[in-house]
Amino acid sequence: MGDTVLELVDVTKRFGAVTAVAGATGGVHRGELVTFLGPSGCGKTTLLRLVGGFLEADGGSILLEGKSLRGVPPHRRDTAMVFQNYALFPHLSVADNVAYGLKARRLPRGEITARVEELLKTVQLEGFGERRPHQLSGGQQQRVALARALSIQPKVLLLDEPLSNLDAALRVAMRAEIRRLQTALHLTVILVTHDQEEAISMSDRIAIMRHGRFEQVGTPLDIYESPATEFVATFIGRVNLIPGRLSQGPEAGQVAFHAWFGTLMLRAPAPPQAGPPISSEARAVIRPERVLLASPREPLPRNTFRGEVAESTYTGQVVRYTVLLQGKPLRVDAWDPVRVGRFPEGSAVAVQFPETLHLLPAEG
Ligand SMILES: Nc1ncnc2c1ncn2[C@@H]1O[C@H](COP(=O)(O)OP(=O)(O)O)[C@@H](O)[C@H]1O
Ligand SMILES: [Mg+2]
Repeated sequence: MGDTVLELVDVTKRFGAVTAVAGATGGVHRGELVTFLGPSGCGKTTLLRLVGGFLEADGGSILLEGKSLRGVPPHRRDTAMVFQNYALFPHLSVADNVAYGLKARRLPRGEITARVEELLKTVQLEGFGERRPHQLSGGQQQRVALARALSIQPKVLLLDEPLSNLDAALRVAMRAEIRRLQTALHLTVILVTHDQEEAISMSDRIAIMRHGRFEQVGTPLDIYESPATEFVATFIGRVNLIPGRLSQGPEAGQVAFHAWFGTLMLRAPAPPQAGPPISSEARAVIRPERVLLASPREPLPRNTFRGEVAESTYTGQVVRYTVLLQGKPLRVDAWDPVRVGRFPEGSAVAVQFPETLHLLPAEG
């Protein structure tokens, strides 16, 4: 764990009757990229604006390097924000946009010119200094906004949905570009997005937000493979949440999971993930790509059940199947359809589950 640069303690913010941020607690380490990920309206932008000083919290505290930011205006915070619409000054040249924060800080003119040139080089916009924002593409405007934010060497860089206004191909390219900048310059970044793929591919850690709070904070792998709640499991990626009952397995280190289609023999969850208690109702979190399909043959291997293909969709990369197990649907993704072949709708298949599955206690 790196040292904590930014700390949020029970932060709350209300707009009239709406509680936009409802007790957010967590920290950001130096040099990491943390993403606030959650559905529209869950409070991501509000929380980012609270950190940047564009809003003042109703309760709790926000600490930068241990010092409270209460009452400190945005331009004195050592934070810099890139807004979703970039918010460039339309009447200023690119160079003057980037120089804005440096002029406000009254740096000598020569130094400003040198810094601006260096920043434009960093974001690969050398030679664009004299243009106006409207003479640039969306992607280039975003680089200007990024250079402007970086100019003051913020301790924390705040990015609100930075890629959402770009077309699909550029969006993917800019993920890598932002990540490259972040690692090269050792930046501490909070990124806000509702795009799970963006979050998974860019982040050191992801904070899943729901109703103004963090529901789970962890690495992309933690969040995808070991979601803490059903909400996290279903928000990230496609998933089967299989209801069932747990009992002791026949061998040590085994648990039996009794689902509607039969009993799965699973490896008991290893500490620190204790898993739900034996004899309780649980949910098995089963990603569609972890299930294997094959032609049925006797005897069926362990954790394998007969099913019938109800639906199949070819997407190029994978075939997305809906397989009926005893009449109820299971989502299965099969890779490499050219090599593996496809199972036509109506065909009988053998459905094999892995021995290691993430288990959640049943909710409600
Ligand atoms: N200035 C505002 N006035 C009133 N309500 C607001 C304001 N800003 C945000 N909200 C409300 O606060 C909640 C969280 O909004 P926001 O932080 O923008 O969510 P997100 O960025 O996750 O989509 C929403 O219900 C939104 O309507
Ligand atoms: Mg938002």
